[in-house]
Amino acid sequence: MPLPSYHDAGPVYVTRQAHFNAAHRLHNPAKSAAWNRRTFGPCNNPKWHGHNYVIEVTVAAQPDPETGYVVDLGDLKKVMEDRILSKVDHRNLNEEVSWLKGVVPSAENLAIAFWRRLEKHLPAGRLHRIRLFETPRNFVDYFGPHGAPAVSE
Ligand code: NI
Repeated sequence: MPLPSYHDAGPVYVTRQAHFNAAHRLHNPAKSAAWNRRTFGPCNNPKWHGHNYVIEVTVAAQPDPETGYVVDLGDLKKVMEDRILSKVDHRNLNEEVSWLKGVVPSAENLAIAFWRRLEKHLPAGRLHRIRLFETPRNFVDYFGPHGAPAVSE
């Protein structure tokens, strides 16, 4: 007898959280030193500063009818480690990460960069959101180039 199916239930959103520590400096080399100091304040410190980042990756899909999974979280964890965490953890984001070269490493820009690193590499489902905490109180959300999906009733 087949298992009961939720095939028309719509998508479920599954999130995996991870942590990394990294140094950075907010600095736009196209602008003057005075502009950078005025705009970024202590975040422009030429001697760097660090954050304990928290990244949340949310994947959406209808659960697979055989496993009940949207995505195997062990597989998602491995992709996050391979594509992002192994490249940024305990690194200087301005100087040591090839795919962040030329990017002002704000939380906003990091979220976009992380999306691009992950989007085509997910083990299942589609990428719905990258949430990046720079501090426990400051975080950004990125939903891809089309923005947050409209909420339907
Ligand atoms: Ni900072």
